[in-house]
Amino acid sequence: MGLREGFQAGLARQLGHPSGLRGRVVGAMLNRRNREAVVKAVDALELSGDESALDIGFGGGLGLGLLLRKTATVQGVEISKTMLARAGTTFRREIAAGRLVLSEGPMTALPLADGTVDAIVTTNTVYFVDDLERAFAEVARVLAPGGRFVLGVGDPDLMGRARMLTDNGFRLRPVAELEAALAAAGLGLLRHERIERGPFRFHLLVTGK
Ligand SMILES: C[S@@+](CC[C@H](N)C(=O)[O-])C[C@H]1O[C@@H](n2cnc3c(N)ncnc32)[C@H](O)[C@@H]1O
Repeated sequence: MGLREGFQAGLARQLGHPSGLRGRVVGAMLNRRNREAVVKAVDALELSGDESALDIGFGGGLGLGLLLRKTATVQGVEISKTMLARAGTTFRREIAAGRLVLSEGPMTALPLADGTVDAIVTTNTVYFVDDLERAFAEVARVLAPGGRFVLGVGDPDLMGRARMLTDNGFRLRPVAELEAALAAAGLGLLRHERIERGPFRFHLLVTGK
């Protein structure tokens, strides 16, 4: 593997599971690069202000901060200890006030009780999840009746042109495949929002239980 390929493989690994000092840098980068997508994904939840919300795979924590501005109680689930530690420092006051709870765990086995969350968001995460059926079944399990789930993904055709992603194990599924998996889990599509700005294209699948 050449120097360039080695660097790209390392970065791809960090995007899927940020860790250590590099992971902290990646966390800050995610907050900058994914800002528009995360802001719109959180907006799409249309929170009423007194609902419970969850961000799965929150990375640099931008989504947690946005959710905390919009509703009273927020949870965050992550597999990365580095991202959990970063959010633990950034949001120490909200955690101390009991408004934010952070937990370690994967989307395929959420450490949360059945039917306890009104609104769930996850952006740029399912590229790293092999068992999508199980992940969406978990989302449906913890979502309260009448709750909403917003899934945000980069455009798979566009991402598929980036060898750094395709060569390093990113699962880039067609949007129709994601919609079918959501429906199979009982998460019905309410609308499909598209973000398009220059070469940037992103999909928000807004679903309900
Ligand atoms: C590319 S980052 C996206 C972060 C943030 N959601 C955003 O859009 O900026 C992917 C994040 O998902 C987390 N992640 C990857 N696989 C996961 C899984 N199976 N369950 C929960 N989180 C996961 C990673 O640790 C990482 O922080």
